[in-house]
Amino acid sequence: MKLVKATCLLLILAFALIAVPVGSPRSQPGIERRINAIIARMTLEEKLGQLQQLDGEANGNYRPEHRDMIRKGLLGSTLNVRGAVRTNELQRVAMNESRLKIPVLFGFDVIHGYRTIFTVPLGEASSWDPVVAERSASIAAAEARAAGVAWTFAPMVDIARDARWGRIIEGAGEDPFLGAAMARARVRGFQGSEQSAPDRVMACAKHWVAYGAAESGRDYNTVDMSENTLRTIYLPPFKAAVDAGVGTFMSAFNSLNGVPSTANPFTLTKVLRGEWRFDGFVVSDYTAVEELIKHGVAADEAEAARLALNAGVDMEMVSRLYNKHLPALLRSNKVAQATIDEAVRRILRIKFRLGLFDHPYTDESRESKVIMSQENLSATREIATRSFVLLKNAQETLPLSKSARSIAVIGPLADDQQDMIGSWNGDGRSQDAVTLLAGIKTKVSQSTKIVYAKGCDVSGDSTEGFAEAVRAARQSDLAIVAVGESADMSGEASSRASLDLPGRQLDLVKAIQATGKPVVVVLMNGRPLTINWLAENVPAILETWFAGTEGGNAIADVLFGDVNPGGKLPVTFPRSVGQEPLYYNHMNTGRPPDANNKYTSKYLDVSWTPLFPFGFGLSYTQFRLSDLQLSTKRILPGGELTTSVEIENTGRRAGDETVELYIRDVAASVTRPVMELKGFERVTLQPGERRRITFKLTPALLGFYNREMRFTVEPGVFHVMIGTSSADPNMLQTDFEVAER
Ligand code: BGC
Repeated sequence: MKLVKATCLLLILAFALIAVPVGSPRSQPGIERRINAIIARMTLEEKLGQLQQLDGEANGNYRPEHRDMIRKGLLGSTLNVRGAVRTNELQRVAMNESRLKIPVLFGFDVIHGYRTIFTVPLGEASSWDPVVAERSASIAAAEARAAGVAWTFAPMVDIARDARWGRIIEGAGEDPFLGAAMARARVRGFQGSEQSAPDRVMACAKHWVAYGAAESGRDYNTVDMSENTLRTIYLPPFKAAVDAGVGTFMSAFNSLNGVPSTANPFTLTKVLRGEWRFDGFVVSDYTAVEELIKHGVAADEAEAARLALNAGVDMEMVSRLYNKHLPALLRSNKVAQATIDEAVRRILRIKFRLGLFDHPYTDESRESKVIMSQENLSATREIATRSFVLLKNAQETLPLSKSARSIAVIGPLADDQQDMIGSWNGDGRSQDAVTLLAGIKTKVSQSTKIVYAKGCDVSGDSTEGFAEAVRAARQSDLAIVAVGESADMSGEASSRASLDLPGRQLDLVKAIQATGKPVVVVLMNGRPLTINWLAENVPAILETWFAGTEGGNAIADVLFGDVNPGGKLPVTFPRSVGQEPLYYNHMNTGRPPDANNKYTSKYLDVSWTPLFPFGFGLSYTQFRLSDLQLSTKRILPGGELTTSVEIENTGRRAGDETVELYIRDVAASVTRPVMELKGFERVTLQPGERRRITFKLTPALLGFYNREMRFTVEPGVFHVMIGTSSADPNMLQTDFEVAER
């Protein structure tokens, strides 16, 4: 009997050992011991090798130089090298030919999909559905890892309040609460709970920090902001990423209050390591260490290396100043051995968590099974439909009938595969993409006549194609016109000083509208646009961002009513570029805008209000909110309360609505925004169905940073506002009070 028991115990123990995979948080002490043992054997050159990341070729190949460096232990990571065969080839050099057999970490920008491309991140945020973000990230992770990529430079969690900034497309928009929810979801989706799994990758929260606040919306530009704004608006999505266990951070290109982010001890060490206890590693952005010289904080390369390492940048991307200058800096005591060792330790820790030491190779048979599977394609189609925002739908122009007699499909973006997959499209191929024209053709009945005319290019001055487009519209019962930006007009280094439709596209829409045929505008773009004329004159506008591989099918699903759109804007649409930065959660000023009083905060030549507000989006059905309740009207500063509201689908179709909870702290020791999002929930309701939605308001949601930069909940009155956009004319409102103790 005893023997049986002992055997059972042994079996259980053995199973437990197998079941706790290397890299799981539970096995951390073991990892740290292994790291110590490796560091103890490393030469300085090998240590500096781990701090180096170099770029492969754009097509995914590694460079011959990488092979030699890896053999000598001088290169710890690459970016852009991808494909199971190629990464395995290089990994074999590390595992078989290098002295210490430290695996290479392959990084890549998997921003909105690896090969199956999803809607762009701004589109995904328009779903107001973190489940969607987690799902797309997990599929992207599975495809990337199957191709040997273990690390993605995503999510970009930069808050962006200025539509001129091209990288607004890569994030979740202007709001820290929505941004934090999306950041958490995307980190969970990429990393899962076990990053050593063959379908997960390590995520990277970027760009640390305040990169999205570039002055004048010009990429890479200077940022100057109060610590209060930094902590209140720009840090929360990064903190959410840390709380979700993100493994790495990327230091940004911009300077913040005079200190470049890649040499900023306050953000890199005090906040990230000290306050948030982040134990992963920080990689610089592309050549950002070297750029400290141009920023004017480093006189030469050696100083740049010293500043970045001492501030807390562990891995240098592409420039090679650590390798070149740290040995001499060490000898002259300008950097400490302990600082180098700590950077190495952090990088090795992530390699362990990814399971690379024990499973350095990628199973080469997985790539063809996982990538672009039917399941992944269905997911990208469904996710895209959830990201579309119906901006206007006069006289129920949409949805369209699948058996319409004839439809004109017009516009430079109507049959374009390249633009459909957006910028930063990983290993995506334009030839995989379904255009709007193709999507419509498969959707409509066999008897429906589709006439296509491009009309004009996205940019440029030619109107040569107008006549044909007008003819197409005249021949048809209605016209679907796809206009917007080309994919390369947003993203990195793609800021714009105008937010108008580029080229002659507006004139094209005007010409089509002049035919008198009903016009549906399908927008494809990576940022808010000033589309005042469209908003006023065209009966229906659907914002589709850049919808990804299955984009055309997804748009057709919505245009023809198979899916009822329910997305909401995660960014404010201005009326004029001169209003930028324009965002809903602004302060009130002492002279809030008043149309009847000149000496208030507004413009002479344009309204102060947005064209489309944050949180806005229509549906093919209607909803009504009612019966706003609070669990109590009075709490103590540490207390919490719940608020709830009833939502009813009062229309004739099933559909989605997002219930948005905003608060306002009416009087505090520092000014507070006129409203702040503190809760949201997207629900699907059948016609006539009602549901009660409940939100909790905790001290973490009610507090703010006071003049001493202490996070606090102050006594006083709070407004609670629940609506279906930040400017809902039917917003429900009530108050509660935080009492003095
Ligand atoms: C971008 C990063 C990106 C990196 C690597 C940089 O130019 O700013 O977001 O991850 O390149 O491709």
